[in-house]
Amino acid sequence: MRDKLSFDLLSEDKIKSVLHTEFLAKKVYAFWSVGSTNEFAYRRASQGEKEGILVIAEEQTKGKGRKSRQWDSPFNKGLWFSLILRPELSAAMAGIVPYLAGVSVAEAVENFLGLKPDVKWPNDLLLNGRKFCGILSEVEFENGQINFIILGIGINVNHKKDEFPQEFRAQATSLRIESDLRIDRADFLAEVLLQLEKNYSYMKQNGFEDIINKWKKRCTQFGKEIIVVQDDDKYQGVFEELDDKGCLLLRTKDGKLKKIVAGDIAF
Ligand code: BTN
Repeated sequence: MRDKLSFDLLSEDKIKSVLHTEFLAKKVYAFWSVGSTNEFAYRRASQGEKEGILVIAEEQTKGKGRKSRQWDSPFNKGLWFSLILRPELSAAMAGIVPYLAGVSVAEAVENFLGLKPDVKWPNDLLLNGRKFCGILSEVEFENGQINFIILGIGINVNHKKDEFPQEFRAQATSLRIESDLRIDRADFLAEVLLQLEKNYSYMKQNGFEDIINKWKKRCTQFGKEIIVVQDDDKYQGVFEELDDKGCLLLRTKDGKLKKIVAGDIAF
């Protein structure tokens, strides 16, 4: 049995005591262990739970990554959390929310640690070329509108190098590795949620052009020659633009502009 006192646990009380937000995380479900915070939040949202609810866990036993990949979510090392959002946006705009999340986490890291993360399409955050944060948003639509979005964010915070599974070690990093500091996860979570709330409110008032522009500035592949992998297909070209729904526009060798909705950029 783990000794609870020897860990800095993310309890509901601890989280609420450090938050500076107005509407995000006013209700918190904090788990010691859960399958997936996204799945729990999705079930709650389907039952009518309101916007802003935070679901967070010390460990996920079935953490979900994009494309049905597994997301490694070890106990007490990271921030594994999901938010229920109910933006009044048309269905086509659902693709913008992950960019909003990426920019917000990057800004939080910059404010909290003075490090400058890059973003990699579609929604990875990197430090020194290694991934420390992934975003998985899942959307439910109703009559052509968004009913709710589950915004799932996984951040590797206090892992040491040898605490990553061998197969991820070359590509993964944590905030601790990059900053040489053991990070107070509750304080850092509060900063992430504050930036998210600011950017989300700004986007609702002013549209998402500025968010997309901030994202593009952090994207080192933007404007460069890239290879996009989509299932069994590969496309080569210049990353020319992100459209207003968050799709990647690739200028291929034949001069055509190819719209890519989903995929990964190969390094
Ligand atoms: C990716 O890069 O593949 C996305 C990873 C998203 C992981 C987070 S951790 C919290 C939330 N719950 C999940 O099951 N997944 C997301």
